[in-house]
Amino acid sequence: MPRNHTITILAGDGIGPEVMDQAVRVLEAAEAKFGFTVTRTAHPVGGAAIDATGHPLPPETVAACEKAQAILFGSVGGPKWENLPPDLQPERGALLPIRKHFGLFANLRPGVCLPALTHASPVKQELIADGFDVLCVRELTGGIYFGSPKGRHEENGEPVALDTMIYHKSEIERIVRVAFTAAMGRKKQLLSVDKANVLASSVLWRETVLEIAKEFPEVELSHMYVDNAAMQLIKRPGSFDVLVTENLFGDILSDEMAMISGSLGMLPSASLGNQREDGLYFGLYEPSGGSAPDIAGQGIANPIAQILSLAMLLRFSLGETEAADAVEAAVAAAIADGFRTGDIATGRDGETKVGTVGMTDAILE
Ligand code: NAI
Ligand code: MG
Repeated sequence: MPRNHTITILAGDGIGPEVMDQAVRVLEAAEAKFGFTVTRTAHPVGGAAIDATGHPLPPETVAACEKAQAILFGSVGGPKWENLPPDLQPERGALLPIRKHFGLFANLRPGVCLPALTHASPVKQELIADGFDVLCVRELTGGIYFGSPKGRHEENGEPVALDTMIYHKSEIERIVRVAFTAAMGRKKQLLSVDKANVLASSVLWRETVLEIAKEFPEVELSHMYVDNAAMQLIKRPGSFDVLVTENLFGDILSDEMAMISGSLGMLPSASLGNQREDGLYFGLYEPSGGSAPDIAGQGIANPIAQILSLAMLLRFSLGETEAADAVEAAVAAAIADGFRTGDIATGRDGETKVGTVGMTDAILE
C-alpha cells in the first residue's frame, strides 16, 4: 500500500522561500526513490503573512497545520517588520505562538561538524579532529520566555522591567525523558546544564533529572553549571554527547554549538510534542538560523540546514527512516565532494564554490 503523508510548508521571509524550494526538490526526489507521497500545502507566515493579511500567524495557517502530520518551516522576520508592536512581529507573533499552540516543548538541535568541514569551524583544529557531534535538547515552551509576571512598570518614577523563570516539575520530567531517550540511541552520555548554585528553578531541575535518571540506568549522567558549560564547549568540544537544558540556556548554548560546527547554515532543528503511540511525533522543523536578510535574494544561502530539517521531519514525524538516512548521507557526500556555499567555503584546494541551487544539485546527484 502506498504510504501517503501530509505536511504544511511555511516558508516565511528572507532566505526562507529560497532554501524551502530546495528542500522541496529533495523531498520530491525522496518520494520518487522511496515510494511514498507527501501531500503538501504552503501557507503564509511571518512578514509575508503580515503583508498579505495584516497578521503574522493567520488562523488559516494554524488550521492547515492542525490537519498536517508536521510543519516544515523556513524562517521569519526582517527589517521591514521590526518596528511593529511586539505581538505583531514575525517571531514573537508567529513562531512562539505556534510552538505554544502545538505544545512543541522539545527542541532538538544536532550540532555536528562534518570531518571535511573542520576548517570552517573557528575552534582549534586539534579540538575537533575526532569530530564534533553534540545533540542539544532544549526545553522550548517554559522558563523565562513564557513565565509570568512579565513586563514593565515604574517604581518611584524609575522604569523597572521583569521576567519570570518558572518551571513545573512535569515540564522538566517530559523534556528530560526526551533527552535520556535520545542518549540511549547515541553514546549513552547525558549532560544536564543548569544554574543550581543560584536559581530555585535549577534546583528543581537537577532534583528531577536525578529522579528520571533511575529509569535510564545505562546512561552516564553528569551535571554542569551553564557558565562552565559555555566554557567547556569551547575547551573540549569533542567530549560531549547529549546535552539537556532549559529554554534560555539552550537558546544560547545551541548558538555556540552552531558556531563550533562551522555555520548556522548547516544546522537543522526539530521541535516536537509528545510521542504518539506509533512512536512518531507532531513536529515543526526549521533551520537553526534566521531569515538572513543580509544575503536574501542573492541565491547564495546554504540550503543544507533546511534540507537536514526535512530529513528530521521524515524521521520523526513521517517514519520514513530510510529516506531520512539517504538525505543525510547525500548531504555528507556533497560536502565530502568539496561543494561549498559561501558560508562554509575556506578557499582550500578541492572546493567547488556553489550557490543555493548548485548545492542542492550536488546533493540530489
Ligand atoms: P540570521 O540567522 O538570520 O543571520 C545570522 C548570520 O548567519 C547572517 O550573517 C546570515 O547571513 C548567516 N546565515 C544564516 N543562515 C544562513 C544560511 N542558510 N546560509 C548562509 N548564511 C546564513 O540571524 P539575524 O541576522 O540575527 O536575524 C535576521 C532576521 O531573522 C531577524 O529578523 C530575526 O528576527 C530573524 N530570525 C528568525 C528566526 C526564525 O525564524 N526561527 C531565528 C533567528 C532570527
Ligand atoms: Mg536563538
